[in-house]
Amino acid sequence: MRPKVVITRKMPEEGLRLLDGKYTINLNEKDRPVTRNELKELLFDASALLCMLNDTVDEAILKGAPKLKIVSNLAVGTNNVDLKACTRMGIVVTNTPGVLTEATADLTFALLLAVTRRIVEGDRFIRDGKFDGWDPLLFVGGDLYGKTLGIIGMGRIGQAVARRARGFGMKIVYNNRKPVSEETARLLEASYAPLEEVIRQADFLTLHLPYYPEVHHLINGERLKIMKPGAYLINTARGAHLDEKSLVEHLKEKRIAGAALDVFENEPELAPSLTGLDNVVLVPHLGSASAHTRKKMAVMAAESICDLLDGRKPERVVNREVYEQE
Ligand code: GLV
Ligand code: GLV
Repeated sequence: MRPKVVITRKMPEEGLRLLDGKYTINLNEKDRPVTRNELKELLFDASALLCMLNDTVDEAILKGAPKLKIVSNLAVGTNNVDLKACTRMGIVVTNTPGVLTEATADLTFALLLAVTRRIVEGDRFIRDGKFDGWDPLLFVGGDLYGKTLGIIGMGRIGQAVARRARGFGMKIVYNNRKPVSEETARLLEASYAPLEEVIRQADFLTLHLPYYPEVHHLINGERLKIMKPGAYLINTARGAHLDEKSLVEHLKEKRIAGAALDVFENEPELAPSLTGLDNVVLVPHLGSASAHTRKKMAVMAAESICDLLDGRKPERVVNREVYEQE
């Protein structure tokens, strides 16, 4: 019998084609995520799972999947998967790093520009039929040139954002678990500073670190308080990095100038009143959503499954210990 591969959501054909014919595919054809119960039922005889960042793959789910060998997450972040439980059970977890770096950095800049230059507000204004000619005071926003971009998390995506920021004539300060190499810092013209210092100095603060429990609400009320009054906050990483309720209060009282969010603490739910604010731009988790990037992610996620089921070690293993413990 061919191994069964569960795919929890429709995805680009290029990825499906790699699996089709080789394995028994069980694809969720519905235009919504699978429920927890559906996932449980699907997995009982599955050898591989190709899942999305909004599927929670925890120990209870894994226990009902005795044949499961690989969890291939269609995302770079793997905070939806219990890595330790997977390792204990000998299940390999893979992700899709690298291919989405530039797309995510592009979206970060799109958001930064949109919130600063009030693009979404302007669009709404025109559609509402309110535009009656040029006005020197109409939707006056902020500048990027000469301003300081604070980057928290200087991995691949943080660095790609820094490269873009240089082109806009911005000054770059960053914080990361460890400073980047001198060579990289020099190329990016980025200087390292302690977390609070980055927050204090930033005219724009952008988050690019992975989510793990230690960084839950990294940007909490106390830290929002030390942001400059005219500063903007951008989040394309994970919603729970940020205390969303506290952010709403700060935005309401205009204690910071604005925010642009691609990710939310309890996706798809939003903090109350968030949608009522004019100084926030909201997009539905689109960081990697370019056609080319999604195609590459689907291919990469499918390749990991082919590798593992054909007896090879996939290239992008997240829980590397799973190989060491054998
Ligand atoms: C998107 O959020 C990802 O982790 O790939
Ligand atoms: C993700 O790819 C990162 O390292 O920032």
